[in-house]
This record gives sequence, C-alpha cells and structure tokens, in this order.
Amino acid sequence: MAILKITPDTIAEAARHIRAGGLVAAPTETVYGLFADATSAKAVSAVYDLKGRPRSSPLIIHVASIDMARQLAEFDRRSTYLVQRNWPGPLTLVLNAKSGSPVVSQATGGLSTVAIRIPDHPVALALIEAAGRPLAAPSANRYGKLSPTDALHVDTQFGRSLAMVLDGGKTRVGVESTVVDLTGPQGIILRPGGIATEVIEAALGSLGTASDSGAQRSPGMARSHYAPGAKVRLNALEPAGTEVLLAFGPNPPEGFIETRNLSESGDLKEAAANLFEYLHLLDRTDIDAIAVMPIPEKGLGAAINDRLRRAAAPRY
Ligand code: TXA
Ligand code: MG
Repeated sequence: MAILKITPDTIAEAARHIRAGGLVAAPTETVYGLFADATSAKAVSAVYDLKGRPRSSPLIIHVASIDMARQLAEFDRRSTYLVQRNWPGPLTLVLNAKSGSPVVSQATGGLSTVAIRIPDHPVALALIEAAGRPLAAPSANRYGKLSPTDALHVDTQFGRSLAMVLDGGKTRVGVESTVVDLTGPQGIILRPGGIATEVIEAALGSLGTASDSGAQRSPGMARSHYAPGAKVRLNALEPAGTEVLLAFGPNPPEGFIETRNLSESGDLKEAAANLFEYLHLLDRTDIDAIAVMPIPEKGLGAAINDRLRRAAAPRY
C-alpha cells in the first residue's frame, strides 16, 4: 500500500480514486476511516468485502457541511440544535433518510435510517470536498479487529489489498464517534464515543436506554469487537500469569512483563487518545493476556470501557 504524505496533490489523487469507485484510507479526528463513494453500490460493496464485514451492518456517511447532510436526512429542531453545536466533531446522528437521497441502500443496510457525521479533520474534509459527494467510512480495520489510530495500523491490516492511505499521523480523539439515534421521541446512545454521553444529555435532556433496542437498531454492535490477538483481562489489580499491563493513573501495580500507561495523571481524554495505539503495542503472542486496570465510567471512560469490554468478550 502507498503511505502518502498529505499534500494537495495526494488529496486530489485520493479523491480521483474514490470517484472512480476505489477505496482510500484517511485520518479523521477519531480513527482512520476506509473511505468510499456512498452513492456507488460497487464502491460500498468493496468496503464490506475488504473489511469482511456483514452486509447487515450499516456504514456512517461522512459529509463536509450541514447543507450536504440535509440532502441525505430529515432534520428536526433537536438534530439541528445538536449538530450546530457539535459538528464538525465525533458525533454521528442516526436520522430518517430523506427520499431522493443519493446514498445507496447497501450503505445503510437497507434501513430507512441513515447515520451521518461531519468529521473534524482537515484531511477528511478536504477528501469529501474534492470527491464532491458523501463518503461512507467505517474504521479502516478488518471486521472485529482493533481500530487504527495511525497509518501504519492500516498498512499492517490491509497491506497490498488496499491502494493507499493518507498519512495524517496519530489521530487526536482515538475512539470512534458517539452514535446517537434520534429517530424516536427520545435520543438513544447506540455507541458511546468521542463526545461524552454527559454532553449529549445536557443538550437533549434525558436519554432512552440502548440495551436491547440498541442491539437491534444498530446491527453493527457485535459483542466481540475491537479485539487484539491476545486475550484481554479487565479490572486487573495484580498479575495473573505472564501478562502485560494496560495501566491508568499514577502508581500502577508491578510484576507485569511490560506496562503502558493510558494516562499517568488519570486524564480520560488522554487515555482515549492512547487506547488503540497501546493495545496494538501490547498485543504479543508470548503472553497469557493483556491485563487492564479499572477505568472510571465517566466522560470518555464510557467509550473506553465499551471498547475494552468488547475486546475482552468471548470470541467465536
Ligand atoms: O469515528 C467514527 O465513527 C469512525 C470514523 C472513520 O468516522 N467510523 C466508524 O464507522 O466507526 P463504523 O462503520 O466502524 O461504525 C458504524 C457504527 C456501527 O455501530 C453501526 O451499527 C452504526 O454506526 N450505524 C450506522 N448506520 C446506522 C443506522 N442507520 N442505524 C443504526 N446504527 C447505525
Ligand atoms: Mg469499526
């Protein structure tokens, strides 16, 4: 795969490749995305094939402006209020699709709803602008595996099967966008992510629960996901075998063969930004498990714990 420095030329080349139906990996503020023309059934189909992702699991559509979003989905006062305050940013809204939307049904899993966001990253925005159409972009990893926060993660997972990645360095937020379903009377967090639930709650008032309805409405939310090769053991306070440690906060326990600290000062934003990178680095074949210290379930801690629980879930 070509790992391209970001220049006006490489962005133009990537946009041409996408317009011709090809796939390009590029950074967003959350994780690297695998970008494809959302108006092309063939391009979208290639995304599912390359990722090995079930076709029932819909993709997020990325746009560069609220005007562009309005062509794809019905906005009401609630959704308008939320996006005016949080876009561009790590917030994805699930809304009722607009009739006449150019997004192909393959991208939305055949649902009558569509998930949309404006990414807060100059490269992703430039790519959408240059392609001149909405782009579908799941995280640029194989289905169920760790999300990529660096161009090298993308290269390691896809190698020759993908033509190019635009190298924007390490991503800033480090966990995927928060997915909020606004198709019902109450907003529902389908996936905790880069904007804290508390922020959404402050804007919308009380939220509905994701539990069962969420699993059904968001077909992509498989229990085992974000999985490194090694086993993951949560809430570790001391070693249990030959383990490496994903630590959080000052004074982590000793006795692990390697330790990476998500944030020595206990800053959850810093921890989120380091999460996938450190899981990639700690993932080795000569260990019993990656042990993970407890992480508070507030702010971005909810997104971190969601990813860690899925990484630790039984695999099939
Ligand atoms: O930060 C992100 O959101 C990244 C970057 C690349 O933008 N993208 C990303 O996409 O995480 P992906 O495909 O890995 O996650 C898409 C999530 C899944 O949980 C899926 O179920 C949900 O969005 N989703 C998409 N369309 C939906 C819909 N119409 N209804 C409910 N959930 C939907
Ligand atoms: Mg993903």
